[in-house]
Amino acid sequence: MIQRKSQREIQLMAEAGKLLAEIHKEIATMIKPGITTTEIDQFAEKYMRDRGAVPEQIGYNGYEYATCASINDEICHGFPRPDKLNSGDIVTIDMVVNLNGFLADSAWTYAVGEVDPAGQRLMEVTKESLYRGIEQAQVGNRVGDIGHAIQEYAEAEGFSVVREFTGHGIGPTMHESPHIPHYGLPGKGARLKEGMAITIEPMLNEGAWQSKMDDNGWTARTIDGGRSAQFEHTLIITKNGPLILTEQDD
Ligand code: MF3
Ligand code: CO
Repeated sequence: MIQRKSQREIQLMAEAGKLLAEIHKEIATMIKPGITTTEIDQFAEKYMRDRGAVPEQIGYNGYEYATCASINDEICHGFPRPDKLNSGDIVTIDMVVNLNGFLADSAWTYAVGEVDPAGQRLMEVTKESLYRGIEQAQVGNRVGDIGHAIQEYAEAEGFSVVREFTGHGIGPTMHESPHIPHYGLPGKGARLKEGMAITIEPMLNEGAWQSKMDDNGWTARTIDGGRSAQFEHTLIITKNGPLILTEQDD
């Protein structure tokens, strides 16, 4: 069953999204060589709790942190850790905020110090692919239209699209129907309807799209050691087009 949210539910999710966007904007100012992802995680958790929000990822299938922090060849679900970030690293910080029982989910990849042009390009194309996917999140379109727009652009730019992890419906729970793959065929898949709340969260790799799982059972990394970037927003399908709930612009 694909849920459609009421105006009240959308308002509550928008408040969670606004809080999440604020946290990302703070993190953007904190990221520099020498900081650790443990510090960023603790900052995010405290920021949420101080405002009456709950870090939804803690306890989710036994996950122990408020954020995921995925560095360089880590695709997603990296654990925050006490190692210092180095200039040249790219790091994806992903989190889910629960405010008053409603959720928002957003990931962003940050450059640490000076990142080489290939890494910068990976980040730029991944972010642009997210917005190209969002552009397709229109009433009457299908899930495949979103994935196709992302894949076509990403591959034309020479990057690959991760298959194992997808966007998803979201609301009072983190993962709801439908799955939103970041690849696919136009005109295929579930039809998008007014009031649906979804995430779009493309992960693009420099090399092959395939991943392997770390021994910790969580962290996915590229099979060839190439870097991976990810940008994710939570949004609502409305008759006036996609309404992004986690946008960081004022
Ligand atoms: N924020 C992630 C997503 O986009 C979920 C991370 S899994 C968790 O779905 F267990 F760490 F929460
Ligand atoms: Co998500």
